[in-house]
Amino acid sequence: MTAVFITGTGTDVGKTFVAAALARHLRIAGRVVDAIKPVVSGFDPAAPTASDSGVLLVALGKSVTIEDIERISPWRFASPLSPDLAAAREGRSLDFKALVAFCRKRESACAGSLIVEGVGGVMVPLDVTHTVLDLMTALRFPVLLVAGSYLGTFSHTLTALHVLAQRNLDIAAVVVSESPIPGASLEETVVTISRFAVAIDVIGVPRMRDDATGHPAIARIAQLL
Ligand SMILES: Nc1ncnc2c1ncn2[C@@H]1O[C@H](COP(=O)(O)OP(=O)(O)OP(=O)(O)O)[C@@H](O)[C@H]1O
Ligand SMILES: [Mg+2]
Repeated sequence: MTAVFITGTGTDVGKTFVAAALARHLRIAGRVVDAIKPVVSGFDPAAPTASDSGVLLVALGKSVTIEDIERISPWRFASPLSPDLAAAREGRSLDFKALVAFCRKRESACAGSLIVEGVGGVMVPLDVTHTVLDLMTALRFPVLLVAGSYLGTFSHTLTALHVLAQRNLDIAAVVVSESPIPGASLEETVVTISRFAVAIDVIGVPRMRDDATGHPAIARIAQLL
């Protein structure tokens, strides 16, 4: 596997957390790794390190300059909205074909593993006709689906898996990143999702104080790449 597309059951579930830990883990293991987050909503140029692009760059051991951010995140919008709406607020629109071409170019330029973080959940609109699902379908990179352990995650996760399967996308694994709110335990969540997601690896990542780099769950995810 040379590229992996990290999508989620929604926003804020842990895509960047998992992507950054994975990038660090692979780097420490001496592997060549690159990461991109092509589309970012809610980007504040005054606080680049706090952005997903900034977090990924730090995990890659890179500086967080505007040039670095431009290299991994060419489509940045200020409003914390879905990309189609965030772009419209700025009188812009996202060029879907250019987005696909950008991801492919980065994959062929990468001598090792490329981690691609999507935006929001599986079917977030990117422009007036395309969603993230269409981007994943165009790229056909194996998909890592990040979910939470919050109340509601079973339906969100199984629905997401269903639409991914409809497009015949290869699912590398489901990663349950433990949510900070009470719900079923991480273990119960993993077991329940596994029961329905037959033949799919379901990996639980506990809530951690800092980053998850040395954790066995991240090592398990890294083995898939
Ligand atoms: N397992 C975990 N342990 C500790 N903190 C976590 C864990 N998973 C996620 N977080 C934290 O929860 C917050 C939301 O996670 P993250 O930013 O990775 O979500 P996301 O899916 O990338 O969101 P977005 O849709 O905005 O890109 C972050 O502060 C992140 O560090
Ligand atoms: Mg993110």
